[in-house]
Formats: sequence, C-alpha cells, structure tokens
Amino acid sequence: CRVRHYKFNVVMKNTTRLCATKPIVTVNGNFPGPTIYAREDDTVLVKVVNHVKYNVSIHWHGVRQLRTGWADGPAYITQCPIQSGQSYVYNFTLTGQRGTLLWHAHVLWLRSTVHGALVILPKLGVPYPFPKPDHERVVILAEWWKSDTEAVINEAMKSGLAPNVSDAHTINGFPGLVPNCSSTKGYTLNVEPGKTYMLRVINAALNEELFFKIAGHKMTVVEVDATYVKPFKTNTILVAPGQTTNVILAADKGSGRYLVAAATFMDTPVVAIDNLTATATLHYTGTLSSTPTMLTSPPPQNATPVADNFTNSLKSLNSKKYPAKVPVTVDHSLLFTVGLAVNPCPTCKAGNGSRVVAGINNITFVMPTVALLQAHYFKIKGVFTTDFPGNPPFTFNYTGNPPANLQATNGTKLYKLPYNATVQVVLQDTGIIAPENHPIHLHGFNFFAVGRGLGNFNPKTDPKKFNLVDPVERNTIGVPSGGWVAIRFRADNPGVWFMHCHLEVHTTWGLKMAFLVDNGKSPNESILPPPKDLPKC
Ligand code: C2O
Repeated sequence: CRVRHYKFNVVMKNTTRLCATKPIVTVNGNFPGPTIYAREDDTVLVKVVNHVKYNVSIHWHGVRQLRTGWADGPAYITQCPIQSGQSYVYNFTLTGQRGTLLWHAHVLWLRSTVHGALVILPKLGVPYPFPKPDHERVVILAEWWKSDTEAVINEAMKSGLAPNVSDAHTINGFPGLVPNCSSTKGYTLNVEPGKTYMLRVINAALNEELFFKIAGHKMTVVEVDATYVKPFKTNTILVAPGQTTNVILAADKGSGRYLVAAATFMDTPVVAIDNLTATATLHYTGTLSSTPTMLTSPPPQNATPVADNFTNSLKSLNSKKYPAKVPVTVDHSLLFTVGLAVNPCPTCKAGNGSRVVAGINNITFVMPTVALLQAHYFKIKGVFTTDFPGNPPFTFNYTGNPPANLQATNGTKLYKLPYNATVQVVLQDTGIIAPENHPIHLHGFNFFAVGRGLGNFNPKTDPKKFNLVDPVERNTIGVPSGGWVAIRFRADNPGVWFMHCHLEVHTTWGLKMAFLVDNGKSPNESILPPPKDLPKC
C-alpha cells in the first residue's frame, strides 16, 4: 500500500459561466476540483491550506474513516473549521474500500464550487468483477449560480423563505447548450469506436437529484457509492446529491455525435423547480464536428416510475469475493421521521430562523460551536446531549392529517450506540411540502437498504418483506416522498457520525442528527488520538 500526498490550496478564482464572470471559492483554481486517485488500502494525506475569507473544511464523502473521525470533515461535528490563513492535513486510510466517491467542502454552502472526485482503484493485480473497460472517465454533475451561493442562503435564512434555485446544472463544470449564451461550451466525451468506457458519475449538486442519460446508448450499472452491484442495463440512471454511480458504456455506434444530458427529478412544481438541463456531447473520433448531434428525448421529469424502476434494480453483487454482510439481527431498532413543514403564519419563524420547520423525529438539529467529536473525546460538558429519541414523539400517520411537525424542538441531541451494535433505522418521510426524495447520508458507515415502501411503514408486515440477502449497500439513500426506507448497519466505527439530508437547503434548515458510537473494549476498537494540527474553534 502506498501513501498518496495531495495539496489543496483553497483560493478564489474568477470563473466564467453563463456569459458572466464571478469569483468563486475553488481548490487549486479549478471547478470542479482535482481528482484524487488512490488504491484500496492506501493512505491519503491531503494538506488543505485556506487562502479565502471563509472558514473551510473538507469531507471525504463515503470514506469509512475507521477510528479516524478527525479526518471526516463536517465542520463542528468532527472538527472545527480551518480558519482563513490556517491549514490542516487530512490523514486517512482507505481500508477495504474501492470505487468512486467524492470529496466536498462541509461548511456553509461552499460545496457548490468546492468538490471533486475520489477514485479508489482496486489493489494492484485485483481485477474488477466485470470485464475491464478500455478507458475510464470521471463525470461530475453539479449546479451553477449566477450569484454568490453564500449570499443566496443568507438571504433565504433572513427572509425565512426557500432559497433561489441554481441557474444551471453542469457536466464536468459546463452547462452545455444554454439559451441566450451561445459562448457556453459543453463538455465533450471523446470515444473511440469499439472501445468500452467506465463512467464514474458523481452528483455534486447542492439541491437536485439528477437523471443522467446518453442518446442512443444504454449503460451497464456496475457500482454505486463504491460498492459493486449486480450489473444491469438501463437508458437512464438516477443520482442523488452525494451519490455516485459507475456505468460501462460501449462505444458501439461507429461514428457520430450524441447528446448527453442531466436533468432534475421533480414530480410537480411545488416549491423549488428547475427546468434547466445540462448537456454534453459524446463524440466518436473521426466524426466531423459539423455532423449534427443526435437529439434524444430529454431525461424524464414526471418520472417517479423511471426512478423507482432504477432504484429497485440496484442489488449488491453479493459474490464469494464481495459478500453482502447484512446484519440479520438488530440490537437497536429505530424509526426516524424525516420532515419539513411550512409555518402557515407568514411572519412566524422557526428556531432555525426560517419559516420552514425541518427535523428528524421533530428535533431541529442545532449546530454547536465546539466540534462534537472533540467534546466527546475530551469530555467537554454542555455541548450535546445523548437523548435523541429512537422513535417519533407522535403516532405517525402519513395518510391522515399532517403530524404536528410545527412543534419541533431545537437541540444538539445525539443517539448513542455501543460499539459493534447492529442498527436498523426506518426513515419515514412525512412528505408535506416537497415531492422530492430526501437523500439521507450517513457518515462513517455503509448501510444496507433492506426495505422501501410508500405510505406509512408497518412494523408488523413490512419487515417480513425485507431483503437480507443482496440489498444494495451505500452511504446515501433516497427516502421516497411519502414513503420510507429501512437501512441496517453495524456500529463498528467509534466516534461521532453525522447523518443528514444531502440537499444542502434541508440540512441548513435542520434535517440532520448525529450518532455517537462508543469505543469497544480493546484498544484497536477505540478512536485514535487527534492529530496535532487539528483546527481550534
Ligand atoms: Cu457529503 Cu455530510 O456530506
């Protein structure tokens, strides 16, 4: 195993998109930021130097961080942010992990422009469990705002209303064809006829779940969130913010130019809808560039069936070499409601300063001013409590009147787990204002998505239908609007681990909580001591 060194200079950079130039926060001046390459079991050291006026922290989304929570990155959860002029070396090992992940800023809304790919190749000499593609490409989907994203969210929090949606989506940094701005170029994916390509598709957008599609070509899905899945063919993939999907594309058309598109998943225009579709071009070498792009129908928008079909097709590979280690018994069985509600009184604001009440089990999470992991490790009192409820404080009835979510209380509450406990969390959407999935992300673990359904979760009948054989394993899961998902994981990683909706606006409103996992009995089941350069608050 090797040690890989990277240096991330966080700097402002004037960047032109949609025919306008603005300074954005970047890593090394690039949007999207640099790709980190490593192999399974390698150690990665990234020195992050903050040259901007904002506080910065970087999260390695999906990296397990076994016993190294200090390197996880969410500001005020596992570390204090890196202040202007300061630096911090993130030091972690990619134990038993390979595949595509992403890294992104984890403070304020900086991740809108501060993000990039984390590519973990298998160990040297270990093949993929599918035919080796001839080439590999990273495809990052994201959003672009004409105004400054920090201003967008600050304005929204002041007004108490939902923030503006982005002005465009992007594929590898570019919106592609956009009306009223002919100089906006798109990304070109050059392919050689007859070759195969692995596309490592990452959704780094702040607030939009995206469909991704290539005209005239099917894709074979082989991996999600850095875990192998049973391969299947599809026209369209669905990727939520924080999720990654590896597909194999066979360049079997001989020649031509084909449209590549990313578009949002929204059923009905209720709160925030953005019709803009990002485009790119699949270009066969040897094709004259004057050849017209073949257009296809854009990715579907009223598309719950397409989304469900894709989601239901995802199954763990569960081979001899890559078994699905699903916990079959459960020590902690939890039910968490995931909900938003708009206060009907226009001038009333919830504890988070917004008109929107957001919470898990009616708790609106309040960010502390001391990092939770430090408070836990150094036994600093008064920073958090461990009374996060394992069940909602009301009898949930999705089909009845909306539950009393307006009564949410504020708190920095954690749910405490003994080392190695097996945990089941049913995430129940209360589906009041938005039609979209809530992509819930758990730090520090992968989990198995053992069940999914619409309406209320039924604790008597639904568990009988759980898939404990080959459920998909991931780190971010869409909780369907008006429905639920059940996840299982083993608490084999001591530390403090954030769980939140990966739609940044929902996180800002308070759709977040954290688990505290105790040390085990032996020293190698305990969290390692903090590094010397850990930032101070
Ligand atoms: Cu990718 Cu806590 O986030």
